[in-house]
Amino acid sequence: MCGIIGFAGREQAAPILLDGLARMEYRGYDSAGIAVRSEAKGLQVKKAKGRLQVLSDLTHGGADLEGTLGIGHTRWATHGEPNDINAHPHVSENGRIALVHNGIIENYLEIKEQLQRHGVKFTSDTDSEVVAQLLEFHYNECHNMLEAVGRVLRRIQGSYAFGIICSDYPNALIAARKDSPLILGYGENGNYIASDVTAIIKHTRDVVYMEDGEIAVVTAENIDVFDSEMNPLEKKHSQVDWDVSAAEKGGYAHFMFKEIMEQPEAVRKTLSPRVRDGRVVLDDVKLTAEYVKNISRIFIIACGSSYHVGMVSKYSWERLLRRPVQVDLASEFRYSDPLVDENTLVIVISQSGETLDTMAAMREAKSRGARTLAVVNVVGSSIAREADDVLYTWAGPEIAVATTKAYTTQLVLMDLIGLYLADLLGTVEKSEYDAILAEMQVLPEKMRRLLEHFEDVQYFASRYFNHNSIFFIGRNLDYAMGLEGSLKLKEISYIHSEAYASGELKHGTISLIEPGTLVVALGTYAALFDKAMSNVVEVKARGAEVLAVTTETFKEKMEKTADSTIVVPDTHPILQPSLGVVPLQLFAYYVALQRGCDIDKPRNLAKSVTVE
Ligand code: AGP
Repeated sequence: MCGIIGFAGREQAAPILLDGLARMEYRGYDSAGIAVRSEAKGLQVKKAKGRLQVLSDLTHGGADLEGTLGIGHTRWATHGEPNDINAHPHVSENGRIALVHNGIIENYLEIKEQLQRHGVKFTSDTDSEVVAQLLEFHYNECHNMLEAVGRVLRRIQGSYAFGIICSDYPNALIAARKDSPLILGYGENGNYIASDVTAIIKHTRDVVYMEDGEIAVVTAENIDVFDSEMNPLEKKHSQVDWDVSAAEKGGYAHFMFKEIMEQPEAVRKTLSPRVRDGRVVLDDVKLTAEYVKNISRIFIIACGSSYHVGMVSKYSWERLLRRPVQVDLASEFRYSDPLVDENTLVIVISQSGETLDTMAAMREAKSRGARTLAVVNVVGSSIAREADDVLYTWAGPEIAVATTKAYTTQLVLMDLIGLYLADLLGTVEKSEYDAILAEMQVLPEKMRRLLEHFEDVQYFASRYFNHNSIFFIGRNLDYAMGLEGSLKLKEISYIHSEAYASGELKHGTISLIEPGTLVVALGTYAALFDKAMSNVVEVKARGAEVLAVTTETFKEKMEKTADSTIVVPDTHPILQPSLGVVPLQLFAYYVALQRGCDIDKPRNLAKSVTVE
C-alpha cells in the first residue's frame, strides 16, 4: 500500500526520496510524488500518476529539485481516483505546507465542510488534502508548526502516518503516526522517516519504531520524539539486520522467483534456532504449561495467504493437540462478536505485521481477555509489538506481492508451535514428536532438491497457460494447500481459479467440469490418497485435463490416471504442504510469465494492506 519516505540531511533530497520510493514499489501503488524545500525556491512539488519512472523522468532523476529536506510518497488510491491531483504530497492553499499520508482520515468530510465554510478551496478528492489544509488553518492561528500538528492530531479520527514539511522551517520535517507504520532512521548524512525499512536500509540500519500517538521532529543532526502531550521521549534504537542485497533482485528476473528459490534457506533459518537437542525450544514465548492446559479453544486469525496457513494448521493442530481450532478471516472475526475469553488462545498470522484487519481482530480478541500469539515476519511491526507473544518467521524481506517464502516459513513455524503446545499438553506420542522433528531437520534439503526440478513445472505451465478457468481439488491438508495454490495463480496470472475440497465436487462444482477444463488434483496426503484418486477419475470421466501433484510413494498410481504429474518428496504428513505448495508457486509464476503479467506487482494488489 502507500509508502512514505522523508529526509532531512546534508545531501540533495530528491534522488534519495526517489530511490526510497523505488524500494517500496513492491507494496503496490498507482501514483507517486515528492516535495523538496530549498532556500531559493521554497517548496517544490512534483507528482505523477503511474509508475515511478514517470516521476523520475519528470524530475530528471530528482536533479531538477534542489534542496536537502523533502518527503515522498507512493499512493494506492482509496479516496479519489489515481491521478496527478490526488497523488501526494498534498500542499495547503497558501503553498507553505506539504504533507504525505498513509491511512484513512475517517472524519475528513466533516472537517472539509468546516474549512470550506472558512473559504478554503480544495483541489483533490482525498482525505489527506484535508489534513494539509487543516494544518495551515491551525498554523495561521498559532504560528508554530509543532503546535499546529498537535491541534490537528487532536481533531482528526482514523489512521495515519504523516510526513510534513513547511517552507517556514528550512531544516525540519515532522512525522506522526497512529495505526500506520512509521520508522525513524539515523544516517550518516542525515536522518530519515519511512513507512517501510526497505526504503532506507541502504542508508542506515539504526532505526526507531514510532508508536501510536507519537510525533517526531527530524533534522539533519537530530531526531526529537514526543508523546501526544508533547513530552519528550527517550526511544529505544533497533538494528535492522537485513542485508541490502536481500531486498534486491540479485540477477533474478523477478523477486517472486528469487523468493521461491530462497525458501530452503528461509525455512532453515526459521527452524534451526528453535530445535535443540531433539526438542522444540521457543525461548521467546511466555506461555506457561499451566496456561496451555487451561486453553479450551484456539483461534487462528489472518488474511489471504496467512489465512491459508491457518487452514493447514487447523488440520495438523487438531490432530496434534486434540483441541478445537477455529480459523477465521480477520475481516470477519473483528465484527463477529467472537466467542473468545481468557481461556482462548488466539494466534494471529501476518507476514507484514501491519495488516489492518488482522491488527483490529487481534485487538478485539485482547479486549475480550484472550491471550494472543503473533506469527510475523517483519521485525518491530505493529502486530508484533502489540501481541502478548511474538514468534518471527526469519524469511527476510519479501518484496513480491505474491507471498512465497513468507508462506512456507509461516507453515513450518506453525508446525513447530503445534508440536510445542502438543508436548505441553501431552497429546503427542514421543515417537510421533521425534518423527516430525527429524523430518523438519531435513525439510530444507528436500525443498532444495525439489526446486532443482523447476523446469518440469515450467514445461507444464507452457502447456496449460492458456486455460481461462482452473480448479484445485484436494482433501484435508491437500485442500488447505490448494487454497494457496489457487490464490497464487489468480493473483499473478489473473486466471479465474477456485479451490475445492474434493468431497464437495459432487455437491455443485462438478457441473463446471467440461471437456478440457484444467483440474489441478492434489494427492500428497497419504491417508486419503485413494479418495483423491477417485476424484481424479471422477473429473477425468467428465473430460477434465488433470495436472496432479503427488509424492514419490504415489507417483506410479497417479501417473496411470492423471494427464500430467508433478512429484514431490515424501515427508511427515503434517509437513507435506510445505513441499507440495512449492510446485504450485512455480506453476503460478510460469503461467503468469507466459501470459506477460506484471509478476511482482500484480494489478490492484498491495503487499501490505493497511486499510480496511
Ligand atoms: C498473498 O500472496 C497476498 N500477498 C495476501 O493474500 C497476503 O497474504 C494478505 O494480504 C495478508 O498479508 P499479511 O500476511 O502481511 O497480513
